[in-house]
Amino acid sequence: MVIEPKIRGFICLTAHPAGCEQNVINQINYIKSKKAIDGGPAKVLVIGASTGFGLASRITSAFGSDAATVGVYFEKPPAPGKPGSAGWYNTAAFEKQAHDAGLYAKSINGDAFSDEIKEKTIALIKKELGQVDLVIYSLASPRRTNPKTGVAHNSVIKPIGEVFTNKTVDFHTGVVSEISINPATEEEIANTVEVMGGEDWAMWIDAMKEANVLANGVVTVAYSYIGPALTEKVYRKGTIGRAKDHLEATAFEINDSLKAIDGKALISVNKALVTQASSAIPVIPLYISLLYKTMKAEGIHEGCIEQIQRLFEQRLYNGSTIPTDDKGRIRIDDWEMRPDVQAKVDELWKIADTESLKSIGDLAGYHGDFMNLFGFEVPGVDYTADVNEVVEVSGLVS
Ligand code: NAI
Repeated sequence: MVIEPKIRGFICLTAHPAGCEQNVINQINYIKSKKAIDGGPAKVLVIGASTGFGLASRITSAFGSDAATVGVYFEKPPAPGKPGSAGWYNTAAFEKQAHDAGLYAKSINGDAFSDEIKEKTIALIKKELGQVDLVIYSLASPRRTNPKTGVAHNSVIKPIGEVFTNKTVDFHTGVVSEISINPATEEEIANTVEVMGGEDWAMWIDAMKEANVLANGVVTVAYSYIGPALTEKVYRKGTIGRAKDHLEATAFEINDSLKAIDGKALISVNKALVTQASSAIPVIPLYISLLYKTMKAEGIHEGCIEQIQRLFEQRLYNGSTIPTDDKGRIRIDDWEMRPDVQAKVDELWKIADTESLKSIGDLAGYHGDFMNLFGFEVPGVDYTADVNEVVEVSGLVS
């Protein structure tokens, strides 16, 4: 079928298999253009492996370190006449490339928050890999059913304590407007922590430790975000920030629990990037379009794959101590948070409106990245051609 984008706000209902495949090949080529990661991981589990930072982590492990990878994700398979989700096609493309390169790669599609998917993943690792030496936790989800209580929780993106009013942009039309978001209730804060906090990460690591599938010296990393004062009321000091505080505190607990096997739990604070998760957060798209413009002008712009390659090579596997901030976090958002970059974004923010954004922001870059997430507007792909929407994931465990 010929697949066209069907956009509804910050989501695209269709995805293009050939565009997703090209995106994955481009990321693999980037990793291959870098030198192999010395002392990199050998057997890796990526939870949230199909898009964004998780996919980049899987690609970096496999093609930068020849690692065997198991990917867990929650994606929609295609059916005749009905394209699957982007993460499905990304994984199909990744596994094809990995298998062609002789690398072990298998996937589990289902709810990572459930006991069932944890058990299935652990059984697979036990049977086929024995143990893993790296566990990446890269889930971004709007909801979670807690397996202990059976209660379903929905996360919200809201400020805490007071109404937050600021500028935002509709990244499809370029219209800048003001939005006001009401503060979250205590219940909404607690629900967001249930979904995006660290409890599920700890459950994964506990279950894996119990099953003896974590290698001696195992490293586990979860991704966090901080960002500037401009966005902190809606992000870091809002509901999602509370969840990230919880995730970061959980790293210390997991770290303690891994001491017996000489393991480590770490947080990596990553850069703001266009992903399915971040497009849904008000204010962030305007910030990102000004940030992209500034970082591109400085020659320091990075996408997910560049961020994760640098995280692996210069932080996790740098052959020496892993550098962290005073709260024990790895900072790979260092270029985003550079004082000169933030000063420039602040200056641009003050004058940003619908008219000025055309020249002071990188809305085209934002929009292009957004379309690319779903395999559209990828250079070299013929979107008028008939493509087979029913693509299999070769390493999918049924
Ligand atoms: P994303 O939306 O691209 O990826 C989310 C992944 O989680 C996908 O693989 C998806 O299939 C999987 N997933 C969602 N719900 C699931 C479930 N119930 N069971 C199994 N898999 C599920 O998100 P992104 O942006 O890569 O985020 C990953 C992490 O990085 C998050 O913790 C996010 O807060 C963090 N981060 C994101 C930044 C950004 O600007 N995008 C910046 C810094 C950190």
